[in-house]
Amino acid sequence: MIEPVLFRDDVLALLDQRLLPHEETLFECRDAAAVVEAIKTMVVRGAPAIGVAAAGGVALAARAAAAGGASCPDGFRAVVVEAVDALVAARPTAVNLAWGARRVARVVDAALDAGADGPEAAARAWSEALAIRDEDVAANRALGAHGAALVPDGARVLTHCNAGALATAGYGTALGVVRAAVEDGKTVHVIADETRPFLQGARLTAWELQKDGIPVTLISDSMAGALMARGEVDLVVVGADRVARNGDVANKIGTYTVAVLARRHGVPFYVAAPTSTLDPDCPDGAAIPIEERDPAEVTSFAGTRVAPEGVPARHLAFDVTPAELVTAIVTEKGIHRAPFVRSLAAALGIPEDDGAAAGEAGPAGENGAGPAEVPVRAAAEEEDLF
Ligand code: MRU
Repeated sequence: MIEPVLFRDDVLALLDQRLLPHEETLFECRDAAAVVEAIKTMVVRGAPAIGVAAAGGVALAARAAAAGGASCPDGFRAVVVEAVDALVAARPTAVNLAWGARRVARVVDAALDAGADGPEAAARAWSEALAIRDEDVAANRALGAHGAALVPDGARVLTHCNAGALATAGYGTALGVVRAAVEDGKTVHVIADETRPFLQGARLTAWELQKDGIPVTLISDSMAGALMARGEVDLVVVGADRVARNGDVANKIGTYTVAVLARRHGVPFYVAAPTSTLDPDCPDGAAIPIEERDPAEVTSFAGTRVAPEGVPARHLAFDVTPAELVTAIVTEKGIHRAPFVRSLAAALGIPEDDGAAAGEAGPAGENGAGPAEVPVRAAAEEEDLF
C-alpha cells in the first residue's frame, strides 16, 4: 500500500509529493515546524493526509516538550498549543487538519489532567496520531466498499485532483472507491483530470493508479465536458476537503466545473470522504474558508514560467460545489443522499437542528435532472474575485 505519512521512531517521514512521479524521496520532519513547512509547501497534501501529518506534528511537539523537560503541565501545554496553532494555520480549507491536530492535543490535555508526566503524555500523543492514521485507512476501506456498489462493471470514472492513497493515510477516498470496485472484480477505467495548476491528477493520480495496474487515461481539465458530451464518462467521483452540514462540498479548484458539467450531461456526481471531512460547524459552503495560493503557481507550468512577466493572476486553490449538484456522498458510514442535512447529521450522530436553515436544495438526480441550476454568487464575492 502506498503510504505518504510514515511514523518512524522519533521522525515523521513524508513522501515528498512535489517530486512525484520522478522521484520517491522522503522528507523527514523532526519537529512540528518542519511539518508546518511540509504542509504549506505541499510535500504532503490531500485533506486526510494533512490531518494525519498534523496529528504527527503535535505528537512531535509533545515529544519536544517532554525532552526539553517541560515538566510543569502548563509549560507542556503551551508548547503543544503553539504547535496546534501553527499547524492549523498552515492551510485553511481542509477541516481534517484542525481535526487531527486538536484530537492529539486533547489527548495530551487529558493525560496531563490525569497526572501523567511529560514522557507519558508524549507517548500517548504519538499513539493517538498512529490511531488517527489507522482509522483513516480503515475509513477509506469502508467507504470504498460502500462506494463500489455505485460503480458498474466496465465503468469509465472521471476524477479530479488526487483523492487517492497519496491524499490519505493510504488506499484513498475517490480512488478507494475505484480500488474497492476493482477488488470486487469489476473492470474500471479512470479518466484523470490533470488538475491545473499543481497537476495532482497528472503527477499523482496517474502515478498511483499506474503503480497499482488500474487503467487510467489523463486528460486536460478542459476536456471533461467534451468527453461527457460524447457519452464517454459513466460517473464522476471526487474527494473533499470539507463538507458543510447541508452537503456543500469544498474540493480542488475545478471540481465545481466538473459537477456542473456532470449535471448538464446526466452523469452521476459522487463525493467520497471520511466523516473526519464533515464539518458540523459549517452550515453551508459559504462558511468554508477557501485557500488562495501564490499566483506564481498559475503563471507557471510545472515550474516553468508561461505567462508574461508582470501579468496579474489569481489562484483560488479550492471551490465549493453546492449540494444540489451532488448525487451522493459516500463515507465510511454508508451512502448519504439528499436531504444531506439529515443524512450527514445521522452519519455524525448529531441533531439536524439548524441545518435546514442553511438552505439545502433538492436531491441531485442519479441520472441527471436537466440543466444545472448555477447558484448566483453574492456581489461582494464577485468583486473580491477580480
Ligand atoms: O491542494 P491539495 O492537493 O491538498 O488538494 C487536495 C484535494 O482537493 C483532494 O481532492 C481532497 O483533499 C480530498 S483527498 C482524499
